[in-house]
Amino acid sequence: MRTLVKHALASSGPQDAIAIAGWVRTRRDAKGFSFLEINDGSCLAGIQVVADAAIPGFERIHELTTGASAIVEGSLVPSPAAGQKWEVKATALRLIGLADATYPLQKKGHTLEFLRSIAHLRPRSNLFGAVFRTRSRLAFAVHEFFQSRDFVYVHTPIVTASDCEGAGEMFRVTTLKGNVDEKPETDFFGKRAYLTVSGQLEAETFACALSNVYTFGPTFRAENSNTARHAAEFWMIEPEMAFCDLQGDMELGEAFIKAMAAYALEHCAEDLAFFAKFVDKGLVERLRFVVERPFQRVPYAEAVAILKQSGKSFEYPVEYGQNLQSEHERYLTEEHFKSPTTVFNYPRVIKPFYMRLNDDQQTVTAMDVLVPGIGEVIGGAQREERPDVLLEQMRFHKLRPEDYWWYADLRKYGTVPHAGFGLGFERLLMFLTGVNNIRDVIPFARTPGNAEF
Ligand code: 4AD
Ligand code: MG
Repeated sequence: MRTLVKHALASSGPQDAIAIAGWVRTRRDAKGFSFLEINDGSCLAGIQVVADAAIPGFERIHELTTGASAIVEGSLVPSPAAGQKWEVKATALRLIGLADATYPLQKKGHTLEFLRSIAHLRPRSNLFGAVFRTRSRLAFAVHEFFQSRDFVYVHTPIVTASDCEGAGEMFRVTTLKGNVDEKPETDFFGKRAYLTVSGQLEAETFACALSNVYTFGPTFRAENSNTARHAAEFWMIEPEMAFCDLQGDMELGEAFIKAMAAYALEHCAEDLAFFAKFVDKGLVERLRFVVERPFQRVPYAEAVAILKQSGKSFEYPVEYGQNLQSEHERYLTEEHFKSPTTVFNYPRVIKPFYMRLNDDQQTVTAMDVLVPGIGEVIGGAQREERPDVLLEQMRFHKLRPEDYWWYADLRKYGTVPHAGFGLGFERLLMFLTGVNNIRDVIPFARTPGNAEF
C-alpha cells in the first residue's frame, strides 16, 4: 500500500513499513549510501529517502536521476535534517521509469515562458504543482459555496445557436466543407451553431424554475486579444437567482469572492506561502484584506468622473459611454479605492441586450467587480424581465427576436425579477495565487495561435 508524501510528512509517529511512490527531484551520493528527494505532487514538499548501499535495488541507484519514477519501501523515521520532521529509511528501491539527461526540468529555475512550452511536464514543477492543487481545491470550494446556499448545479450546453454577449466572438461548430454559410440548414444541427460564450441564457431558464442555480463549465471566446488575462477557452461560474435584483447580485458576487479568498487562506496555506515567497510578496496580506473589508461600490458615471479627474495619462481615453479598459479598471481598484470595487449602472449601449433598463432609459443594471492586479473578475446584471422592454432591447441591439423566442417566453410565463453574474475562474485563480498570466493557471492554455497539447 502506497502512502502519499503529504500523509507521510504529516504522520503523528514513526511507521515500520511504508511505501512511497513518486518522481526523483534530486539525488546526492555519499560513501556507502545515497539521499533521494521524492515528490509525488500530493504537496509541495518532497520526502527525503536515505538508501543504504546494501539494500535491494541499490545497484541501479545511478539510474535514479531527476525525473525518474521509483517506489521506495522502508520505515518512516524522525529526520535529523532541518525543516522536515520525517524521512524514509529505505529497505528496498524499485526503479520504475527512467528519465535520461534530456529531462527538461532540472533543478535550476526555469522561466514561465519555457515552462509553457513543456506544458505536459510543468505540473511536476513546484510552481505548477501548487497552482493546480489550488485550482482543484478552489473548484471544490465553488461547489461548496453554492450547494451550502441551496443553489442547484445546472450543466448548460457547450454547443449553442445563440450569442449571449452579442459580441460576435464565437467559434463556429460545423461539419460542412467549403462555404459553411451557403446552406446552414444542411449543417449538422440544421442551423449555424457555435461554442458557447456563456451559459447564462440557459441558466436563466433553470432559475425561473428552480429559483437559485449555478453553472460551472468551459466557455469559449474567439476574441483575438493576446493579453495576460484573456484565453480562448476558460471556465466560468455563473449563478442566477430568481426574485433577486442588482443589489442582491452585488452582494452575492462580493460574498463569493470573499469566501474564495477565505477558503484559499484556510485550505491552501502551504501553496499560498510558496506563492507569497516566489510570486507575489503581498499575497497573504491582500487576501486577508479582501476577506475582512467591505468592497467599494461606485456607479459607472462616477467612476468615469474619477478617472477623468485622476490626472493620469491613460493609453485609451476615458469617455462616458465607452467601455472601461483594463488600465482604467486597475486605476480604480488599485490606486483610487485601493480595494475590490463594484462598478454598476453602465450605459445601455455598451452592455448586452439582456440587462434591465433603468428608469433613466440610458443605463442598465450591470455590475462588474474589479480587483487589484487583474481588473474585471465578475460581470453580471439584473435581467430585463419585462417582455415589452426586452423586445425593445433586442431591437436596440439589432438582434432578431425570433432567435430568442424561448428566452422571451420566460417573460411571458410567470416572469420574475432575476439576476446573476459570471466569474472567470482563471481570473479568480490569478487573483488568489498572484500568478499574473492566465496561461499559467489553466492546465493547457488555448490562446490565438496556440492549441498545442
Ligand atoms: O463579462 P462577461 O462577458 O459576462 C458574461 O458572459 C455574462 N453572460 C455572465 C453572466 O452574467 N452570467 O464574462 C464574465 C467573466 C468576466 O468578468 C471575466 O472574469 C471572464 O468571464 N472572462 C474571461 N476570462 C478569461 N478569458 C476571457 N477571454 C474572458 N472573457 C470573460
Ligand atoms: Mg464583462
